Amino acid sequence: MTSTRFTELVGCRLPLQQAPMGGVASGPELAAAVCAAGGHGMVGAAMASPEALAVILDAVAARTSAPMGANFLIPFVDRDLVRLAAARVRVVDFFYGDPDPSLVELVHGGGALAGWQVGSAAEARAAVEAGCDLVVAQGVEAGGHVRGRIGLLPLLAEVREAVDVPVVAAGGIATARGVAAALAAGADAVRVGTGFIAAEEADAHPAYVAAILAAGADDAVLTEAFSMGWPDAPHRVLRSCIEAATALDADIAGETVLGGVSMPVPRWAPPPPGRSTTGHVEAMALYAGQGVGAVRAVAPAAAIVAELTEGLVSGR
Ligand SMILES: Cc1cc2nc3c(=O)[nH]c(=O)nc-3n(C[C@H](O)[C@H](O)[C@H](O)COP(=O)(O)O)c2cc1C
Repeated sequence: MTSTRFTELVGCRLPLQQAPMGGVASGPELAAAVCAAGGHGMVGAAMASPEALAVILDAVAARTSAPMGANFLIPFVDRDLVRLAAARVRVVDFFYGDPDPSLVELVHGGGALAGWQVGSAAEARAAVEAGCDLVVAQGVEAGGHVRGRIGLLPLLAEVREAVDVPVVAAGGIATARGVAAALAAGADAVRVGTGFIAAEEADAHPAYVAAILAAGADDAVLTEAFSMGWPDAPHRVLRSCIEAATALDADIAGETVLGGVSMPVPRWAPPPPGRSTTGHVEAMALYAGQGVGAVRAVAPAAAIVAELTEGLVSGR
């Protein structure tokens, strides 16, 4: 039940990938815990310095020999960082830009597999033409930045038809039933983001976690509100943070640490609040997918992995 084209290609035990989440899953803790539990842990590497990224990836490797991944956002991609990651991880994954054969070549040159998160069948085809070994089909239900406008099930059907590589399903999956449903619908694995925000090992600020635990599906709205420095990139957040940022009478919402460096967070800037973020945390981008209603308690990542894959492992 747990062996799929994804697990065979990547080499992990379970067809479950923890989404790379810039600012929430940028450190080693969450990825290492998910890898150790049999899932595919991912580090959101977008904003790291080369020194910081090497330390983070080496820290994951020191805790587990299971295959891990690193993710880069195309609007901010740094080729030296991609090269550094490709020599250290099993999967280097990209998001939010046209599939680029030269990046895929860089990844393969370092010995890693290349993945691309897509929002349409056409983009999936372009990813495979660029040389990608797997694609992630992201439905519009997803938390964080959202690439397409299609619901996960119809997108998955089209992507499966369009490409022959393993397909990972992402967007709104936060229960064991959701995981089983996506696999039944043709996915080779699922990617879960919002379902890991309340993991003990995630780096989300306690007020962000509390807002996630209190929210339901209709609180997770698609917006372009937090677009400062990253325009034309719709994202799904909790409605409460748009209201709080609208009411905020200041240009700076607070301070956060990005890539090891402390910096101000302007009002409407994309970084979500991490544990060390200070200021008006409730007015920063509180990303959440439509599966948020299923996230009800803080729990160790291993328990979340076990719960999400319970039906697969037990065969129920
Ligand atoms: C807090 C948060 C941060 C995210 N950051 C990234 C990122 O840095 N890179 C990326 O490729 N995707 C990012 N995503 C999107 C995920 O890759 C994935 O598509 C999404 O989490 C799936 O939907 P779900 O949150 O409903 O599970 C982020 C999502 C969330 C919730």
